[in-house]
Amino acid sequence: MSTASGDPPCPRILVMGAGSVGCHTGGLLQGAGAQVDFVGRPRMLDRLRERGLRLTDLDGGSQHLPPSSLRLHEQVPAGSQPDLVLLCVKSAATEAAAASLSDTLPAGTVVLSLQNGLGNAERAQARAPGLVVVPAMVPYNIAEIAPGHFHRGTSGQLAARSHPQLQKLCGLFARAGLPLALHADLRPVQLGKLLLNLNNPVNALSGLPLRAQLLQAGHRHGFAALVEEALALMRADGTEPARLTPLSWDALLRVLRLPTPLFRLVAARMLRIDPQARSSMADDLAAGRLTEIDALCGEVVRMAGRLGRQAPLNRAMVERVRQAEQARQAAAAAPPS
Ligand SMILES: NC(=O)c1ccc[n+]([C@@H]2O[C@H](COP(=O)([O-])OP(=O)(O)OC[C@H]3O[C@@H](n4cnc5c(N)ncnc54)[C@H](OP(=O)(O)O)[C@@H]3O)[C@@H](O)[C@H]2O)c1
Repeated sequence: MSTASGDPPCPRILVMGAGSVGCHTGGLLQGAGAQVDFVGRPRMLDRLRERGLRLTDLDGGSQHLPPSSLRLHEQVPAGSQPDLVLLCVKSAATEAAAASLSDTLPAGTVVLSLQNGLGNAERAQARAPGLVVVPAMVPYNIAEIAPGHFHRGTSGQLAARSHPQLQKLCGLFARAGLPLALHADLRPVQLGKLLLNLNNPVNALSGLPLRAQLLQAGHRHGFAALVEEALALMRADGTEPARLTPLSWDALLRVLRLPTPLFRLVAARMLRIDPQARSSMADDLAAGRLTEIDALCGEVVRMAGRLGRQAPLNRAMVERVRQAEQARQAAAAAPPS
């Protein structure tokens, strides 16, 4: 892991997918001196044109980028030569986003995938073979809590697979309050993040904010069971997931299974979450959008298949979330009564 710096004076960053992660990361980098181009959907760009970009966090950080400072685009601008692209679309949009980057950007442009799951960087690389796609891991939660207002509700350090271009930009990320941990092999970190993300479907189906959901024993034990099943598969596959909390994975499982009053005491640090923070899967479900369940529990089911084993709990969770997606979409399509 390294944090060398030496970034160019005004690095050019292109955010592909101006949503929670894209607006938050791109906005902080712009605040730290980068020239940032945001590519997003018209509904998001309209909000940013009207209100600008407000960025806050649970540590009290706050900044506002006025509308006139934002470079907003519906398509990757022709002639762009960014020093770094941040790929910030949801898993289902990876291929289309990678294709439009590939059509427009010079060969060799470095694209940092800030997406969850294990396979997004590889899928983007396959669709954009001339670009250099590098996986990253965002450990904290970002939500749009008001139009154009993005809030980081939990903590953690951004990580990425090491690449010379990222080493040059480490100073920029550090000034932006996003110190970048670079790893020769990011897979153990991605596996660790996948384990933590197994709480996303539990949170989405619970209908509760993250903190309240973790304080309910049934939901917490459900999360622990999904983690235990996936952890056994990762170990059978020969990789120990990186530890992303102060606890080892086995200790974390024991803590999650404590009775709630004890859990509240022992896990005080884990519970340092804004009371209103929810998983982005909860937001997708509420909005009637397809979720990333296939990139999370679905990935565990595929891992089991490759090993000739089963993952019944993660498989059942995929089915439950798919049913919830269909129910939301049917409700949204029904004529008003
Ligand atoms: N939010 C978090 O707390 C968090 C934390 C860690 C990691 N992540 C990961 O980061 C990734 C992004 O999540 P997010 O929460 O930021 O998603 P998001 O808020 O939905 O943002 C993605 C945005 O990109 C837009 N988009 C998709 N394809 C595009 C294209 N070709 N051109 C322009 N815009 C496009 C989407 O529009 P449509 O909705 O129309 O597709 C959406 O507005 C996911 O893999 C997620 O798992 C999120």
